[in-house]
Amino acid sequence: MQIEKDKTEQSGHPVADAPSKKVFIKTWGCQMNVYDSTRMQDALEGDGYTPTQDLDDADLVLLNTCHIREKAAEKVYSNLGRIRKLKQQRAGTDRPMTIGVTGCVAQAEGEEIIRRERAVDLVVGPQTYHRLPEIVAKAITSGPQIDTEYAVEDKFEHMPLASAKQVKSRGVTAFLTVQEGCDKFCTFCVVPYTRGAEISRPHAQIITEAKSLVDAGVREITLLGQNVNAWHGIDPKGSEMRLGELLYDLAEIDGINRLRYVTSHPKDMDDGLIEAHRDLDCLMPYLHLPVQAGSDKILKSMNRSHTADEYVSIIDRVREVRPDIAISGDMIVGFPGETDEDFEATMEIVRRTNYAQCYSFKYSMRPGTPGAEMEDQVEESVKDERLARLKALLTEQQQAFNASCVGKTIDVLLEKRGREANQLIGRSPWLQGVVVPSHLGTIGDTVRVVVTKANTNSLMAQAAG
Ligand code: 5AD
Ligand code: SF4
Repeated sequence: MQIEKDKTEQSGHPVADAPSKKVFIKTWGCQMNVYDSTRMQDALEGDGYTPTQDLDDADLVLLNTCHIREKAAEKVYSNLGRIRKLKQQRAGTDRPMTIGVTGCVAQAEGEEIIRRERAVDLVVGPQTYHRLPEIVAKAITSGPQIDTEYAVEDKFEHMPLASAKQVKSRGVTAFLTVQEGCDKFCTFCVVPYTRGAEISRPHAQIITEAKSLVDAGVREITLLGQNVNAWHGIDPKGSEMRLGELLYDLAEIDGINRLRYVTSHPKDMDDGLIEAHRDLDCLMPYLHLPVQAGSDKILKSMNRSHTADEYVSIIDRVREVRPDIAISGDMIVGFPGETDEDFEATMEIVRRTNYAQCYSFKYSMRPGTPGAEMEDQVEESVKDERLARLKALLTEQQQAFNASCVGKTIDVLLEKRGREANQLIGRSPWLQGVVVPSHLGTIGDTVRVVVTKANTNSLMAQAAG
């Protein structure tokens, strides 16, 4: 990031167009937090804050936090300790520092954060970002502010669209939140408590935001939601619609090359969505559909509302209409009550599904969730052992999937420069990073290439034919 020249007059007084203030945002957690951080940045730019990657150069520091697994809050406090020292050095100078905690830890801990770390000036939950500029200004003039009220529809209505310049600065792919919150109450998860009840953004709002992204040069949009396939709305003619139908409407926008969506729940994987995978070329052949565990007993106690067989039959149906689809997922090992036999069932569902890529986690007790109250918590050493075995299987599957791409002709959307000057990096339809020679195109182009080599996490390719 370029540091702006200081426009302060020699007298030390700011000139009329004083240097803009700088905001540094650190983001943890899921893509929705990444999206939220960009929207916070956009909202603050209207108030004269330009982004910086340099903590030392920031007037405003925001930590956009995640609460999904243990120690998340502890990480926030240890970061705050370091930032407090910077703030103390700046006290009394003409550039005091303001510190804010946003996101799911802010929602879950509220004023406790300010009680524990007095350097914090504002605590803002995920549903109030549209009020952020106002809250920051108030914190600067009147002292600490806490805002963790739920009003998620409000947020989307009042967040300004990103300007073309802001969108361009972030590249040719973009996230777009269409759904937020969760009513599923899986017994391990804090999201229903931190992000609130499921809400869907209105159809017109989504189409408007998607069009403005595409007008600014975005070629790939990933729709986001904690339960993205629970999205529902009303089309302009007044009919009920679900995510599959929304995808058909988005596919009509001129200039959209690629659509994706994350994260889905098996219960909401309806026929319309599966048909969209059959019909829409721009809907990428990639499905992130977490199952979490393979034993029906554990799935029941997780309150997942489906069995292992039901999950596998959804995957079969999707593969029937889109045989080349890459399946991705999330797995938890060591949920309370998980026996060796239950864990073997997790290994078995992984074998049956054959993932292109899958995240795996040790169960982590979250205060306030039913899982934390359950007896039969699994010992840490057992979780470690199971996770290692599961990860080995998943890596094997991922490597096999990547190896199966070698020799294939694929389209790659070029996203950024590579490590070497003569390389560009893009994504395959299946979301793998692909390194291509830079003479094949420029960022934003979709180029046709042949995959020449597979690594565990990426592919190499050359010009096709
Ligand atoms: N412990 C471990 N993993 C969890 N996840 C959610 N809550 C927990 C928890 N308490 C995982 C799930 C979810 C992903 C985003 O994080 O696999 O799909
Ligand atoms: Fe973390 Fe979930 Fe919050 Fe995303 S929604 S930041 S994953 S707790």
